Amino acid sequence: MASQRGGSVVVVGSCNMDMVTRAPRFPSAGEHLIATAFGTYLGGKGANQAIAAARAGASVAMVGRVGSDAFGTQMVVALAEAGIAVDAVAVDEGAPTGNASIWLDASGENRLLIFAGANGRVSPSDIRKQRVTIGAASVLLAQLEVPIDAIYEACTAARAAGVRVVLNAAPASPLPADLWTLIDVLVVNQTEAVALGGDIDAVHSSRVLVSKGVGTVVVTLGGAGCIVMPDINSDPIAISSFPVRSVVDTTGAGDAFCGAFAASLASGASVIDAARVGNAAGSLAVEVLGAIPSMPTLEQIQRRLQGR
Ligand code: RIB
Repeated sequence: MASQRGGSVVVVGSCNMDMVTRAPRFPSAGEHLIATAFGTYLGGKGANQAIAAARAGASVAMVGRVGSDAFGTQMVVALAEAGIAVDAVAVDEGAPTGNASIWLDASGENRLLIFAGANGRVSPSDIRKQRVTIGAASVLLAQLEVPIDAIYEACTAARAAGVRVVLNAAPASPLPADLWTLIDVLVVNQTEAVALGGDIDAVHSSRVLVSKGVGTVVVTLGGAGCIVMPDINSDPIAISSFPVRSVVDTTGAGDAFCGAFAASLASGASVIDAARVGNAAGSLAVEVLGAIPSMPTLEQIQRRLQGR
């Protein structure tokens, strides 16, 4: 079975409020363009992936920071309502909840400007306080929207406890040399693969990343699915995606992939089967406006896997 209930995922990452403005096209520099719609949606790669993993059937704990403001309260309530353990989401008196200003065009493509806020204050000491929570999970799922020293601490703690480490290196930024060998599965899109691997070709780049000591590299390809690079000597395994009804908003599609992928791995699936589940989740997410609202349920994922 490619996707089933069970398994636990601990997510270390960001919590944002997404401010989404829609227009037929993106304005050019200096142009004043009239938008067609505006809305606020909960987001942040960490929170998106935590909700995606929970909706895909995992038992999830979230580690992160929000501000002591209305956005932070909304975030904690939404995570808790999704059944996610929020004891490790700290309320920071010294910084606002992170936010993202998002432009969305008629084809569902986006442009993002992210303000870290409280996410930028997640620290190694926050992580050390959550060693028991991290050690109790089957999978640690992290991204790069909180400081890298906190991510390093989380990966180290997970590894020491025998917890599988899945790092979504998004947005791409340089990683400490000794972090690579702590990563069981690295998930990147094509742009991130090229930025981190240094080769213009995503497949060559993923080989470079495996050679740095990463267990397995998964490169997501948007509507074309993903490739899995199991080791340095193997050929990449291409896993195709699923037909999409209509692309409304691509924001959070990669997060849907990562959350559902991690939930599937935590339930005992292979990387290949988990990547199929991730593809199904990503294809569903682009059909719905907003990041967290678009994260699909296990039932939706299973229907898409069956071609329904
Ligand atoms: O991956 C999409 C997410 O990136 C958005 O929800 C936004 O908050 C940024 O973190």
